[in-house]
Parts: sequence; structure tokens; C-alpha cells
Amino acid sequence: MPDRRALLASAGALAAGLAASPLIWPVRSVAAVLPPPATPHGGRIVDCELVAAERSFALPAFSGRSLPLWTFSATSPPPELRVGLGDRLRVKLTNALTRPGEHVSIHWHGIRVPLAQDGVPYVSQAPVEPGRSFIYDFVPPDTGTFFFHTHCNTAEQLGRGLSGILIVDGDEVAPFDAERILVMRDWRIDPERGTFLPFFTDEGASGSGSFGPVRTVNGAVSPKIAVPPNANIRIRLINIDATRISQIGLRQGNGLVIAVDGTAVEPFALKDWWLGPAMRVDLALRTGAAGSIVELVDYFAEAPQVLARLEAGGAPVNSPALTEPGLRAGRMAMPDLAQAERLTFELTATATGARMSAPGPDDFSRVVMDSLCLSQKSFWAMNKQSWPGGDHARLPPPLTVLRQGRSYVMELKNVSQVRHPIHLHGHSFRVLSSNKRTLPVHWADTVLVAPRERVEIALRADNPGNWMFHCHLIEHQEAGMMGYVKIA
Ligand code: C2O
Ligand code: CU
Repeated sequence: MPDRRALLASAGALAAGLAASPLIWPVRSVAAVLPPPATPHGGRIVDCELVAAERSFALPAFSGRSLPLWTFSATSPPPELRVGLGDRLRVKLTNALTRPGEHVSIHWHGIRVPLAQDGVPYVSQAPVEPGRSFIYDFVPPDTGTFFFHTHCNTAEQLGRGLSGILIVDGDEVAPFDAERILVMRDWRIDPERGTFLPFFTDEGASGSGSFGPVRTVNGAVSPKIAVPPNANIRIRLINIDATRISQIGLRQGNGLVIAVDGTAVEPFALKDWWLGPAMRVDLALRTGAAGSIVELVDYFAEAPQVLARLEAGGAPVNSPALTEPGLRAGRMAMPDLAQAERLTFELTATATGARMSAPGPDDFSRVVMDSLCLSQKSFWAMNKQSWPGGDHARLPPPLTVLRQGRSYVMELKNVSQVRHPIHLHGHSFRVLSSNKRTLPVHWADTVLVAPRERVEIALRADNPGNWMFHCHLIEHQEAGMMGYVKIA
């Protein structure tokens, strides 16, 4: 039986998990990324229920209007689930949407789940039709900052709000004085009329995506976020937008990047980090005196845009300033670069409407999808294959077949005119290098590839299954830039 029902953060679990840790900051002689946490045994069982339904919300950014959002819970979207490393998460998903055929599922983005928990209709589970339920049950193997979302008709479903946050605690050696979760997303609404704009447009899908005119952090436009003065703060910054790519920096403050896509990195100063759709970054920063403000800025906008203001107020904490706020390292198996096989994936535009893939001999390709999971148009391809569109209702053959346990270096080669945030399910990969940028070698589950850029990633193919591999600019995904990698 479940020992607890929890939907929102459980501060108790956080405290319990840290009780055995020394309450001091690591000193300079300590490695900036600490050894990974031990494999935990017998965590709690955390049960929760998510009900996908239409609910009216008047978010601060909607200037007094209510919009019929689609959300997973009645709390202000997105809901936040929080567990400790080793906890078993059991989520009952119920589809209470009323539009006929509008099925849902939950993809746990960045979580290395077994295939049956991956939440891709037809690929890893049957779609959850209106009125039906499905229970996800897994132990997240990694600590960090994650999110979740549905995986068909995603431009509309994510655009209307079907997403949530998942935090897995256990990477901190000593607690921060405070933590703030900042969720960035646009809303595709007409601010005058308070109605949704089309979530998929040919212009957006064939270009850089359809942007939402109302840009928000935590549901508000450039909100003030209260933080304690003279304190060490952890910011979990999550881009859940379907389209928007930002280049994140701070004004009037200094921050360190301490994790990328949930996994610790050797801390480095935040200057202008690219944050595309689905990407996350964790920051450590020291707040100033009461009244001081640190601005979170997007430098990729036409003029630098203030996304949020972190305003110090209330009683100062006056904890010692952090020197090396190291987190515990990820628990992924390192790829063996010396033995790795090399593969190339070309990211290309297709002729409008062209369909380039054909069902293959693979058994799997006999699976027939419904219209909600098919591409609307084919503007994009990976290695000349577009995700089946229109009447092309069979799954294509895999982009490639990887041998379980082997290591691979994959070159992602963008020969198109726009940026693509490329995401692989079921694994984290090492981002090794770019021909255009200097990047720290780091773990990620989504990597941004600019026009004419070639990014090398590496992974150990240790999770068997058919894993989606796609652009996370959702209109690109829905216009063909999606395939899957088979690991057997
Ligand atoms: Cu967050 Cu297949 O995606
Ligand atoms: Cu793309």
C-alpha cells in the first residue's frame, strides 16, 4: 500500500535525505563535481494522480482573462512532483479531456525509464483515450531537474498547458538557503481577445516555430521573484516552451551553472547559456542585501529581455558565501570513446509536403498510428527520413539499430537554416564538442544544433528499446523531424 500521497513538494523528504550529509560547503580542495550518490535501496512509494482535463485559469499573464487550459491538475500549471533518489513514483494518469480521440500519455523527459514507462503512444504504450487511465510506476535513476509532457498533438497539448515538473532530490551535499523553480514558456494567445492562436502554422513549422506573443516565467510576465538576502540560492530554470530558444544571462549578479539537463557539471560562470525547448539549467547564486535585484535576461531576443527579477527581501540569511557549490555527479555509465562506433545524423529541410520514409521490413513498422500521432506536414527530416505524415499511418523503420551495451559517438550535423534542439529518449548523452562553439563536456538529454553546426555526442546504449530521437521544437517534431533509435 502507498505510504503517502504526495503531489506537491515534500520538504520532509528533502530534509530526511540530507540529514546524513555534513552541513558545510565543500572547500576548494574538494572536487567541484562530487562522486555520484550511492544506489539507494528501498525508498518511499510516492503515489499521485494526474487528471488531464480542461480547466479555466486566469494566470497573471492573461491580464484578467481566463483561458480554457488543458492541465494535469487543478493547481496552477505546471504541477510539481518531487521525490528523492530511490523513491518509487506511481502516477495514475486519467484522461478527462472531452474532445473525441484526444488521447494522452506522459513522457518523463530526461528520466532514464524502462521503455514501458516512456509515454510515447504506439511506441511504448497504448494511447490513453478520453475516460481511460494508465499507471506509471518507476524509480527515477537520476537526481535533477526534469519535466514531463504528452507526446502526440504536442503543439496543442503542450501549448494549452499539459506539462509538469519533476524534481529528484539527492544531488546536494549541503542544502542551499533557498531554491526557486523558474518555468519559462510562451502562451500562443491573442492578448486583445484572450483566445488561443493556432498552435501549428506552416510558416512556423517550416521556419523557426510559432512564437507565443505572451512570454512568461511562472505564469507571469517579467515577475518579481522574492529571495532571501545574503543567501545561497539554487535556481532551477526550465524551458518548457514548444518553440522559444533563449540565451540566458544575469544582470546585476553573478551565477554559476551547476547542472545542465539535471546533471551536475563542473561549475562555470553563467554568461550567455543557450536554453532551447526542453532544456534545463541549474544555477547557484549569492543574493545581495535586502532590496537588491538580480535580473534573469534573454540575450537572444532583439533587445535583451528581462525574464524575471530576483528581489532580495525579508530577513537576511547571512550564511557563509559558497565557494564551490558542487553537486553530486550523475549516475550514467560513461561511454567508451576508444571503442565507440561513429554515426552521423543529418538534420535537413525537405521539399514541402514531401514524404520520404517508407514502412520497412521491421515488425515494429506494422504498428499503425492514429492521426493524432502523425505529422501534419513534412518540412523536416533526420537522415532523409521524415516521420510519417498524412495517410502514412505506419511507423517507419528505425533510424539506426544500436547494440546494447556498446558505445557510440553520434555527429549531429545541421545542414538546414534554423536551430534544432535535438532530444533522445531513454538516455543521457555526453556533449563532446562543436565545430562552432566552445562547450564544457557535459551530460544532456537535449542539445541545440545551430545552422552549419556539427555537434558530437556520445552515449552507452544501455537501455534496450525503441527510443524517440527528435527535434524538440515541437512544430519541427510534428513536421517530420522525428525518428527512433532501436537498441537491442
Ligand atoms: Cu520532451 Cu520526445 O520529448
Ligand atoms: Cu528543429
